[in-house]
Amino acid sequence: MLALQIIIRIMSENITDSQPNIVLEAKNLTRRFGGLVAVNNVSFTVYKDEIFGLIGPNGAGKTTLFNLITGFIPPSSGNLLYQGKEISQKPSHKIAALGIARTFQNIRLFGEISALENVIIGRHLHTNSSMIKGLFAIPPAPDEEQKTKKEALELLELVGLIDRAEEKARNFAYGDQRRLEIARALALKPKILLLDEPAAGMNPSEKQELSQFINKIRNYFDLTIVLIEHNVPLVMGLCNRIAVLNFGELITLDKPEIVKNNPAVIEAYLGNE
Ligand SMILES: Nc1ncnc2c1ncn2[C@@H]1O[C@H](COP(=O)(O)OP(=O)(O)OP(=O)(O)O)[C@@H](O)[C@H]1O
Ligand SMILES: [Mg+2]
Repeated sequence: MLALQIIIRIMSENITDSQPNIVLEAKNLTRRFGGLVAVNNVSFTVYKDEIFGLIGPNGAGKTTLFNLITGFIPPSSGNLLYQGKEISQKPSHKIAALGIARTFQNIRLFGEISALENVIIGRHLHTNSSMIKGLFAIPPAPDEEQKTKKEALELLELVGLIDRAEEKARNFAYGDQRRLEIARALALKPKILLLDEPAAGMNPSEKQELSQFINKIRNYFDLTIVLIEHNVPLVMGLCNRIAVLNFGELITLDKPEIVKNNPAVIEAYLGNE
């Protein structure tokens, strides 16, 4: 009897082990803006450690989906679960504090302060409810401040901007600003990183490096990454799975080689390239 129980236990553990670990789940997620349904009844799961691509034509609802996941806006209906817990009604600073960080399609850096200060503020911003609050947050203890500075410098080193740590962010070329935004998002020590068009504005060689860079930070920080990107070769080469949105609806979610050959995807998106 005991032997039978042990065998059943081992079998059930093996079954559990073979299932991917879900970190993020959307269930029938919908967001309306007046009469427009920007995200329409979308359901998907994101697995731990994967690079999950999100593609679709302009206006398909990709950024809106990021705004929902990060609590910048609430859903009209549906659910969002992070590590199995409902987050859809939580404000953005609470979601950030749980470990979900993002970059923005329209870069949001403080141009008049240094790269280093942007990364340091990033840590406060993510744990305060607004940018203004973040700026005026109660100063940390000196020890903590030194630690935060050291970590911020390490992040700048990692994104290749250490030599320009003291330079104002507005002097940076577009591609460098995108890397700086990633460093700022990483200052939160997130578990999930959402990247909204990180290759936009980058030159061809920067775009090529970006793939390696995303893989590097994924491995280094043990991250799960959700990537919105119009650069199809980059997405196809980098992502474990790809979700395709069109007019707010999820038209497919699968491995890159399957998505690439899906007629609905070709018609909605890839055919335009
Ligand atoms: N705050 C808002 N108020 C009203 N409409 C909005 C708002 N945010 C987004 N929309 C609309 O929702 C739709 C989806 O927009 P969204 O920015 O999510 O698209 P996207 O897939 O990110 O497009 P792109 O590739 O151009 O960035 C668009 O029609 C957009 O105009
Ligand atoms: Mg967008």
